Amino acid sequence: MFNAEKFIEKTVSQLQKEVKGKALIAFSGGVDSTVCTALVNKAIGDRLVAVHVDTGYMRKDESEDVKKLMKNLGLNFSFIDASKEYYSALKGVEDPEKKRKIIGEKFIRLFEKVAKDKKIEYLVQGTIAPDWIESGGELRDTIKSHHNVGGLPEDMELKLVEPLRDLYKDEVRKVARVLDLNVSERQPFPGPGLAIRVIGEATPEKTEIVREACNIVEREIELAVEKGLMEKPWQYFAVLIPIKTVGVHGDKRAYGYTIAVRAVQSIDAMTCTYSKIPHEVLDKISTRITNTMGSKINRIVYDITNKPPGTIEWE
Ligand code: XMP
Repeated sequence: MFNAEKFIEKTVSQLQKEVKGKALIAFSGGVDSTVCTALVNKAIGDRLVAVHVDTGYMRKDESEDVKKLMKNLGLNFSFIDASKEYYSALKGVEDPEKKRKIIGEKFIRLFEKVAKDKKIEYLVQGTIAPDWIESGGELRDTIKSHHNVGGLPEDMELKLVEPLRDLYKDEVRKVARVLDLNVSERQPFPGPGLAIRVIGEATPEKTEIVREACNIVEREIELAVEKGLMEKPWQYFAVLIPIKTVGVHGDKRAYGYTIAVRAVQSIDAMTCTYSKIPHEVLDKISTRITNTMGSKINRIVYDITNKPPGTIEWE
């Protein structure tokens, strides 16, 4: 049985021994990085600098919210708007593994720059067990290279610290509850963000579409949960499939992309079953997405795949 209190005590004391100088934490505002920040903060106080990168692939208003959160937590922080850089690095890149590696490497290069300016030696990441298990290595197949593992360049100059490496998500949530962090129940959001929710090339135009669609799926599902229409899924979002199909908007022919609705139940992200979203909620999601997006989207499909054989994200 995982004991969160003991974990906190042991980790803080280990961090005090391990981190001798200043440390930089990659802060996304999600459960893992917020828990990590709280632990390192307890251990080394204001020798910690939180860095948030707006990659251009964050959800609607997310980076602004993260900025507020960093301020409220009283952290030393840097905020980097790197959206233009990311869009240009991913231009023409279709392969999911290539996308993940480019994103992972870019994060590190940006962190190295901040570290150099502020004379920081350590990089703290909120990597958890499924991240490195799925990223493969000598003993296992690579399912997908999680950005914070498989995307790390070999010549990285910073010393890596990963206090949550052995934990699964449900355990990280337990730690968050003990630390009284109000992000404890947030759904997971992957580091590469919306870039892996646009299948193939993640152009700014397609990213804007999936950002809006993700927002609608999140809001409608949260509303349905509040009304007691369904159980809260573990994770729920939209995916843009760059396949165009024929539709009709008003009395005009349309030729637009497809959006898939994905919602799953899971405990530790290693397996999942798809959530049974009531039809009335699916109806609302479908109507809102197609109404908002005009002729850009004219088909909504519902993903009914478990993991295995699927994975939670499509890329
Ligand atoms: P999959 O798609 O492999 O995802 O079933 C399992 C869980 O991990 C999240 N995920 C990631 N998280 N960096 C992250 O921080 C990544 O590169 C990454 N890829 C997937 C995914 O959203 C799910 O919760």
